[in-house]
Amino acid sequence: MHKLRMLFSFIILIASIQINAQENTITIHVDQAKDTISKHIYGHFAEHLGRGIYDGFFVGKDSKIPNTNGIRTDIIEALRELSIPVLRWPGGCFAEQYQWKDGIGPVEERPLVVNTFWGGVTEDNSFGTHEFLELCEMLDTEPYIAVNIASGTVKDASQWIEYVTSDKDSEVTRLRKANGRKEPWDVKFWGIGNENWGCGGSMDAEYYTDVFKRFSTYCNADFKIASGGEWDDLEWTRTFMSEIKEVPGFIDIADGLSYHYYTIANDWSVKGSALDFVEEEWFRSMDQTLKMEANLEDHIAIMDEEDPDNTIALIADEWGTWYDVEEGTNPGFLYQQNSLRDALVAALGLNIFNNQARRVKMANIAQTVNVLQAMILTKEGQMVKTPTFYVFKMYKVHQDAMQLPSEVKAENYTTEQGEVPALSVSASKNSHGQVHVTVANVHPHKELNTAINLKGVEKFGEVSASIITADKMNAFNDFGKEEQVKLETYEGIRSKKGALSVDIPAKSVILLKIK
Ligand code: AHR
Repeated sequence: MHKLRMLFSFIILIASIQINAQENTITIHVDQAKDTISKHIYGHFAEHLGRGIYDGFFVGKDSKIPNTNGIRTDIIEALRELSIPVLRWPGGCFAEQYQWKDGIGPVEERPLVVNTFWGGVTEDNSFGTHEFLELCEMLDTEPYIAVNIASGTVKDASQWIEYVTSDKDSEVTRLRKANGRKEPWDVKFWGIGNENWGCGGSMDAEYYTDVFKRFSTYCNADFKIASGGEWDDLEWTRTFMSEIKEVPGFIDIADGLSYHYYTIANDWSVKGSALDFVEEEWFRSMDQTLKMEANLEDHIAIMDEEDPDNTIALIADEWGTWYDVEEGTNPGFLYQQNSLRDALVAALGLNIFNNQARRVKMANIAQTVNVLQAMILTKEGQMVKTPTFYVFKMYKVHQDAMQLPSEVKAENYTTEQGEVPALSVSASKNSHGQVHVTVANVHPHKELNTAINLKGVEKFGEVSASIITADKMNAFNDFGKEEQVKLETYEGIRSKKGALSVDIPAKSVILLKIK
């Protein structure tokens, strides 16, 4: 009798394991590729803020830290691993106080000004247009420059574009040549203002749209990006999109509309610590990031109505986590640590942008080095690659690949504060026919065995995987210590007779490469 009961329990256990094993399913529609995931979704942002440029990218020619023309060699080497496609500069809020002519010509003659937005520090303008464009050349990345429309004139903006891009003979291009650059640079992306609802002049949507039209008419640039409203301001999107389409030849006036969305675990007054947090804050970071998708869809629905031909792209040119600054650092410098939580947030954000690739043509995480959700943190001569760095390294396989629609049937991560789907997915197929699936499991305690169905694929070849995870939710990479969070090979995949399944550990990000 006892043996029978044991056998019975054993059968129930096996059955429940099988049911559990089948509970989580990801279906990838390999036969339904339609949109390209623009490589620019993997873009970055570098503002004159805190230690992002000065004492970050740029240490100056006389620094003991190895550099080329003042630009740090180790940072360039590290960032080249990410194949950064586009870099936005000089802000952010700083863009609207920036006078570009202060940042050209002999360095010793450049004026000192005060960076009123960020810490009230003195800006010596030693990093200007030439230095930024040299940095982009070193990174092999496309520049994206935001012009000042709030405290600068139309003439300033149009002359900056002429200085940088024109091959014609003029006083402005002669100045460029006199400053050592004969040939124009190839700069396609230009932002017409930044957050003009707030730090960019506190404008309302109607007023901004008029200002945009005036500036844009005289800005002779390839791809012009308008400032969006606040993330939840759908009316701004409606006003801009509906008015801009009335401009004759509006396609030449606007090519993109900017969108900013930050993940804040608590609220703006007490944002919480980057490392010293509890599970509630982990949950809220995931929840808030996941909510970006519905918000994006609301903006995109308006854009679809007003611009059904999809001529104006949504440009998510600021996103990422924002915590309280690290203790003892300047509150205006926005220096924060970066943990496994940030890796998960990055993965969720990138999955969302990949899945919205039809309208989202660029995204720029804020902000590359030493500011907000950075790829790189520095302390004097030392440097660490953050967990977020490794997500960008893992995800670069999606750049310019065809987006594959996916469906996820998985359990939820449930807490007292609510629940979110535990798994987030995006997938793509590259020009060699290789399929890449990136999956994030935001559940901090539960491994999820997941079946992967590849629709439209009769047979697949070699499958390999890599993973980013750690024991603790707040694991991070510290100066001078062994890395706690990095990209590693992962063996937890099973591929048998055309069926593929993977054990997705708690709080992990996984890349599957399917040939
Ligand atoms: O990224 C930091 C700041 O956040 C930017 O300067 C501004 O555009 C946004 O509010």
